[in-house]
Amino acid sequence: MNRATSARNKEGDEIPLARRSRPVRSKNPLQQKIIFSISFVLASFLVLIFSNFLSARDIFYQMVGLENFSDNRLLGHYPYPEASRDDLVTVYPGLMVHKEVLFDLEKMRADANRSGVRIVLLSGFRSVELQNEIFYENKSLRNQVALERARVSAPPGYSEHSTGYAIDLGDASRRDTDFEVEFEETQAFKWLKTNAAKYHFILSFPKDNSQKVSYEPWHWRYEGTVKALEQFKKVNK
Ligand code: DAL
Ligand code: ZN
Repeated sequence: MNRATSARNKEGDEIPLARRSRPVRSKNPLQQKIIFSISFVLASFLVLIFSNFLSARDIFYQMVGLENFSDNRLLGHYPYPEASRDDLVTVYPGLMVHKEVLFDLEKMRADANRSGVRIVLLSGFRSVELQNEIFYENKSLRNQVALERARVSAPPGYSEHSTGYAIDLGDASRRDTDFEVEFEETQAFKWLKTNAAKYHFILSFPKDNSQKVSYEPWHWRYEGTVKALEQFKKVNK
């Protein structure tokens, strides 16, 4: 070793003259097959876990009663498009419904009338703009946070009323029960409970509904056409 080399060694920056590398050992075919099989099984497990992840999460949220973030719900309400003006018909001034609803709605009210039950139509189509006023003004007037308000009123863009397929009904002989849970005690509600399905109407928010919206015995939606059904085909509904 000359003087220069030994100086570099002392400083610790000498590059070794020979590098040792481990000999490359070729794996035998059996070992390769085992490794491949284990990797395949592991990958399959991962795919299974991820494909089930959302539904497992949904079940968890359902169980603990929290908002479900895996669909498009907002405070329990599903998003709905606003009906086009061409699809709406006026039942009486200030009250419109989707044109597909009118025939069955009028037939249902006429048949109820023949049975001595007078059903009043309280509301139908609501624009997103009107829903905006209802939601935010009432929320402010009643000093409610959005979550509380959403139990009784959908946020704008999330009301079935905007589709023109949802209606609120009352009993002509019990107007004191309009928009009240006591509507369930009226002849109109009892008649509807027994007969509404014949006319393709369904109660949107029954007691303990999965959307966690308050019980609304007055609020019915129409599912008598494919177009109507497509609006309401969401899971858990
Ligand atoms: N009252 C129902 C939830 C609505 O506002 O659409
Ligand atoms: Zn309603």
